[in-house]
Amino acid sequence: MAPLAVVTFQPPAQALDHLQVPHVVETDPAQWRALARDAQALCCLLTDRVDAALLAHAGSLKVIATASVGVDHVDVEAATARGIWVCHTPGVLTQATADLTLALILAASRRVPEGEALLRGGRFQGWRHDMLLGLELGGATLGIVGMGRIGRAVASRAAAFGMEVLSSDPGAPDGPGRPVDLEELCRVSDVVTLHCPLTPATRHLFDRARIRSMKPGAILVNTARGAVVDEEALADALHDGHLAAAGLDVYEHEPAVHPRLLTAPRVVLLPHLGSATLKTRTAMATLAFVDATRVVRGLPPLHPFNHP
Ligand code: GLV
Repeated sequence: MAPLAVVTFQPPAQALDHLQVPHVVETDPAQWRALARDAQALCCLLTDRVDAALLAHAGSLKVIATASVGVDHVDVEAATARGIWVCHTPGVLTQATADLTLALILAASRRVPEGEALLRGGRFQGWRHDMLLGLELGGATLGIVGMGRIGRAVASRAAAFGMEVLSSDPGAPDGPGRPVDLEELCRVSDVVTLHCPLTPATRHLFDRARIRSMKPGAILVNTARGAVVDEEALADALHDGHLAAAGLDVYEHEPAVHPRLLTAPRVVLLPHLGSATLKTRTAMATLAFVDATRVVRGLPPLHPFNHP
């Protein structure tokens, strides 16, 4: 029987048990695109571009189930117009992503990579009173941009560190932290962390002017989507010392990293690891497979992003 579902990635075995319709796992993009032509379900990742051309070619598709919470790689409008469900994985990656955000905040504020490089480079000549002094989180102000699930989970962790939390999210004015407008948040926060989805409204939300409006010596952390930040402007602000540091997990043109970010001082760079725990990745794939199965069987999905 021809596969009803095409899976573009090798999922944890436990998760694949939840895909209960005939399926094929095919990780080669040219191959899975060809196979998608006759499939009813496409189970994909955030690195798979699902554009209008693919949707036009895959005329039998009923559901795109992406094992990610972000859907900016999918042309949701085109899918909706074709009556195709777009399903994603909210909730299950919240804790893992919030943990990684704190890892970046701590690494950037306490200069962890610099300290390790100094030691491995043979430059540790004993304890020094003035060596690699960083920002202490207790009493510092954390500005959270985007108070969805991940923003809230970061807020509770930050509170445990004794940080004062400010929030800016026009869609969630009642979240934890003191709600302020984005201008005030940038002006007063010692650390700004981004947790908004990438949409036309948030693309380059942190442009040159916004980055310049941040408190001198502040730290910018991004575990959301790279394109929320103008990377060239961020690199400039790090090179000229306007910002003390940055912690980045995401990039506008992944896997490429802006070359001037690679050479900027005090920037901690991770390769998009926000949800990278086995527990979370298994849960994400499971959610995608459950919804793919449901839609192919004629049931409504549990985690739809759109409503075709
Ligand atoms: C990760 O970036 C996701 O959107 O799941």
